[in-house]
Amino acid sequence: MAYETIVVEIEEGIAILTLNRPAVLNALNDQVFNELADAASTLTADPSVRVVIITGGEKVFAAGADIGQMASATAVDVTTSDKPSHRAFQLIENMPKPVIAAIAGYALGGGCELTLVADVRIAADNAQFGLPEIKLGILPGAGGTQRLPRLIGSGRAKELIFSGDFIKAEEALRIGLVNKVVPADQLFDEAKKMAKRFAARGAVALRMAKSSVNEGLRMDLEAGLQYEHKCFSLLFATEDQKEGMKAFLEKRPAKFQGR
Ligand code: HXC
Repeated sequence: MAYETIVVEIEEGIAILTLNRPAVLNALNDQVFNELADAASTLTADPSVRVVIITGGEKVFAAGADIGQMASATAVDVTTSDKPSHRAFQLIENMPKPVIAAIAGYALGGGCELTLVADVRIAADNAQFGLPEIKLGILPGAGGTQRLPRLIGSGRAKELIFSGDFIKAEEALRIGLVNKVVPADQLFDEAKKMAKRFAARGAVALRMAKSSVNEGLRMDLEAGLQYEHKCFSLLFATEDQKEGMKAFLEKRPAKFQGR
């Protein structure tokens, strides 16, 4: 996959998608969003890809949406419903396979919001998070006011959104914004280790489990429990369920085929 603002590499079933605009700290413009959307669709359709890692590389995750591009935008420009950021983030969030964000350096504004569409966030100990939009006279408009409160609670989310302050990786861990903090030089090894752990599981069960959590978060509890039950029942139609349980009873590791 040849892109200008991102790099996609696939290795042993794990796709690594790296933001690549170092001169502007990986600021996210429409080209980045469009390329992210294209890559997300392609990786979704590729059954050999089991897990996706999104990163900005060793120095910075992303310093937000491209302020240069936004500065002269009109309300009409911004209100178009198919805006590229929304499309890209939805495609990533709904990918039917695990997505891990591996975050070093700044993850600000739209960059922080991009980490929120991943399933799991691993931060380097030099990572910093923030939603500084309020200081620009706007608000976090790529899901920050919706996904962040769902992840860390509205009180903590509002503090970050209202202040625009940055927090360090350890604080992000304390408030549940990231799953794990690791020394910066171990970030990619840790992300790959986690990706391999996920990739060893059955692809259909992973897909249904992700869907059950994501869809359930959009429903009330009763509807969510019913949806979970449908996903659960469906898995009993898979070979992987038979294999997983047989392997347990035979005291051997399961060999999942993803069907
Ligand atoms: C465009 C950016 C940028 C951004 C940095 N740069 N962030 N360009 N959009 N979001 C550019 C700088 O202009 C500069 O270019 C180069 O990257 C290096 O940045 P510096 O500021 O010189 O680096 P430093 O002093 O280390 O400060 C790092 C920083 C700061 C604290 C991250 O760059 C910063 O505050 N950036 C903006 C963060 C922000 O407000 N993000 C939210 C954006 S709004 P030159 O050419 O001078 O070298 C948003 C809305 C999302 O994300 C919702 C809609 C989709």
